[in-house]
Amino acid sequence: MKYCFLSSHFGWLGSLAASALLLSCSSVDTKRTESAAPTTESSMGAAQSAIMNTLENDALAAGKALYQQNCTVCHGNNGKLGANGAHDLTKSNLTITGRVYIVKNGLGKMPAFKATLTDEEIEQVVTYSMTLR
Ligand code: HEC
Repeated sequence: MKYCFLSSHFGWLGSLAASALLLSCSSVDTKRTESAAPTTESSMGAAQSAIMNTLENDALAAGKALYQQNCTVCHGNNGKLGANGAHDLTKSNLTITGRVYIVKNGLGKMPAFKATLTDEEIEQVVTYSMTLR
């Protein structure tokens, strides 16, 4: 329940935070039940960041797929196409928050996506757009 609550309210960042919570819970269990083979702090840190990286990559992969379905027609695969007056995303100075706002509400000839994409999907596609260079 806690996991679902967090992830639906805070998008993939919430999922990351929730998994970190789950992970820290399981590390407590491990220490309690397997005292013969204690897990060192540094290996837990490594395991945790490996899981965080995987989740981050999954969210980016989802964002990339969403980008290809919804944005390439105007912005192109690399963000530079500029069809229909679209801005070059590789030159955009907008923050994630600014981009989320534009994708949700549209701007000029750019359509609004809040009716077609969920908040989580918009966060993912925008996060992917930040990686375009
Ligand atoms: C129908 C064409 C079209 C589609 C589809 C489209 N855009 Fe745009 N986009 C535009 C246009 C046109 C602008 C410039 C708007 C303006 O300033 O008037 C723009 C601007 C932007 C900007 C602002 C860039 C800046 O710094 O000025 C971002 C970010 C952006 N689009 C992201 C996206 C994302 C992400 C998607 C897919 C979910 C998307 N766009 C889909 C046409 C499109």
